[in-house]
Amino acid sequence: MGFPAVFTDYARMVEQRLEQLVSDRDAPEILKQAMLYSLTAGGKRLRPAMLLEFYRVLGGDPADALSAACGIEMVHTYSLIHDDLPCMDNDDLRRGKPACHIAFGEDTALLAGDALLTLAFEVTTQVPSVISPQAVVQAVRLLAGAAGMSGMVGGQVLDLQSEGKQITLEQLQQLQEGKTVAMLRAAGQIACALAGANAQVTDAVTAYCNCIGRAFQIRDDILDVIGDTKTLGKPVQSDMQNQKNTYVRLLGVEQSERLVDKLTEQAKGALQPLGNCENLNSLADVLAGRMQ
Ligand code: IPE
Ligand code: IPE
Ligand code: MG
Ligand code: MG
Ligand code: MG
Repeated sequence: MGFPAVFTDYARMVEQRLEQLVSDRDAPEILKQAMLYSLTAGGKRLRPAMLLEFYRVLGGDPADALSAACGIEMVHTYSLIHDDLPCMDNDDLRRGKPACHIAFGEDTALLAGDALLTLAFEVTTQVPSVISPQAVVQAVRLLAGAAGMSGMVGGQVLDLQSEGKQITLEQLQQLQEGKTVAMLRAAGQIACALAGANAQVTDAVTAYCNCIGRAFQIRDDILDVIGDTKTLGKPVQSDMQNQKNTYVRLLGVEQSERLVDKLTEQAKGALQPLGNCENLNSLADVLAGRMQ
């Protein structure tokens, strides 16, 4: 089963805008090259596509939220560049190509990540006037919260600190809540902020994203064991080599798969108050069995 067609359309829209947003800027050529290298290498574009689809479901025109969608993809791409560095996961392959630090050196890769992180906030504010300034401020705050010390960066610290150590399932869930769930939740919540959604709708979207986020990282852990490098576009068995704490390590593959299925059903259930969310329901199913 492939991604629903609308998600492929969103991915193309995002890719085109990402390229524009970086190419048009006045900056050292090598920096732009490194940023574009990682940004245009492919990737599922899950976070921006979710943002755009939620924005559409909530009554907006996805084109209006496109720059904000690029913002979340920029933060995500920066996190992958830094995640692959020798001081972190030390992985040489990303999105089917040599990792940014292999292609450009560690110094430029580090700075390309920094530049993507800051550019992300700039472009998130580039929305048309149908979106209120208050909504933009809220979107920026959500992105910052998800990316930072209490979100992705915090989770990455827990991930590194727990290498080679025994941790509990509860601690693993907390680690993954930071490194992965926070950014996926931000995709939904930013869409809610930009669309001016009420609290009840925002809660339903948040519940979906929380379940999708957990399932997504557990599937990522599974793919490190059962996936193949060519399809995945990144090295397999990396978690094992780095003695990472993963769901597979704590529960085994089968039980982890059952947990992914359970979270997928919960995610779909969470959207019921919103009415017709066919694309987001299919997305949940596709992600549960993904091989890339
Ligand atoms: C990889 O994210 C890092 C995790 C949070 C598991 P994705 O699997 O979304 O990576 P791309 O964007 O498709 O390359
Ligand atoms: C990283 O998790 C999540 C990020 C914040 C980048 P992983 O280290 O498991 O991601 P992959 O497997 O390298 O994509
Ligand atoms: Mg990592
Ligand atoms: Mg990694
Ligand atoms: Mg992984």
